[in-house]
Order: sequence, then C-alpha cells, then structure tokens
Amino acid sequence: MHQLVYRSLALDEDFGDSDLDILLKALTFNRENQITGFLLRGREQFFQALHGPREVVLALMQRIHHDTRHREVEVLLSEDTDEPTPFRDWAMGYNYVAEDELGLALSAEGIRPEVSPAKARELWLEMVEQAQSESEWGGGSPYSRKPAESVDAWIQRLSAARSH
Ligand SMILES: Cc1cc2nc3c(=O)[nH]c(=O)nc-3n(C[C@H](O)[C@H](O)[C@H](O)COP(=O)(O)O)c2cc1C
Repeated sequence: MHQLVYRSLALDEDFGDSDLDILLKALTFNRENQITGFLLRGREQFFQALHGPREVVLALMQRIHHDTRHREVEVLLSEDTDEPTPFRDWAMGYNYVAEDELGLALSAEGIRPEVSPAKARELWLEMVEQAQSESEWGGGSPYSRKPAESVDAWIQRLSAARSH
C-alpha cells in the first residue's frame, strides 16, 4: 500500500459545482479502487490524504496533478506502508478547514509556508483524526458527510445538490 499527502491552490470558489464534481468523482472512483482518504477544503487551498494500492494511488496522483481545478500541487509526504487504512470507510472524507488554524495559510504576498516532514505528518494525522471522529461529520461544509450517513446516501445527496 501507499499513502500520501499534498497541498494545492484551488482555482474555483468553494461550495460550488467544481468541488461537488471533485467529491463525487473521488467517492465513486476511490470506492471501486480500494482508495480511502480525506480532502480538506480551505478558502484558497486543498489538502488531501490518499491511502491505497501503490500503483492506483500513484496513477491517481498523476491525474490529480494535471487537474486544471487547482495548481501548484505539492506532495508533502509519500511513502509505502503495511498499515491498513486509518480512514475506515471513507472513500473520501471532506471538510472545510480554516487554513490559519492549520498554520498553513498563505502570506499576504500569497506565499505558502514551508512544510517540514514533521508538519506534513501532523497534517496527515489531523485528517485521520477527522475521519475517525464522528462528531466531525457534517462539520464545516454542507457537502460533508452527515452523522451515520451511508456513502450511498451521501453520494445521492451530493448529486442532487449539483445545479444542472
Ligand atoms: C483537489 C482534487 C482532489 C481530487 N481527488 C480525487 C480522488 O480522490 N479520486 C479521484 O478519482 N479523482 C480525484 N480528483 C479528480 C482527478 O483529478 C481527475 O479529474 C479524475 O481522476 C478523472 O480523471 P480523467 O478525467 O483523466 O479520467 C481530484 C481532483 C482535485 C482537483
């Protein structure tokens, strides 16, 4: 198995169809391909953790890298692991995040802070904690999974929210 974390600069508004499309794609593809993880959406940035079969994760990361809905994709942690996923049944978690609370907000000049390997691990653990804490379900975004909502029901709700 392989696990990784990256950050990127989002190009579309949050709470829009673009995020819904990303999340719906992630939920359907990941579920069919043994990938789990978490996506944190800040006002300006994405932070995402992925865990799954090595070849699948790395190929997905290539596609994500070239996705035009964000730019400056920077992989912060990427390693093989024997550990089972800490993301339980989360094909993809989703929550809104205040970037400054993570200590990862852009500077006034739009520069991202450096991320040390220890900080990258902290970010990974933050996402693991959110995935494991049921109280976070339904957290900061209307697109987040609600408490006890099945992934199927969640996908249906997100599809219905898509505005066309
Ligand atoms: C921030 C972000 C996160 C994404 N996460 C996933 C994901 O977890 N799983 C997935 O299948 N696609 C994800 N995507 C979408 C992929 O970049 C890509 O659109 C998708 O794999 C389809 O690729 P294709 O159009 O080349 O077939 C994400 C895109 C962005 C911008």
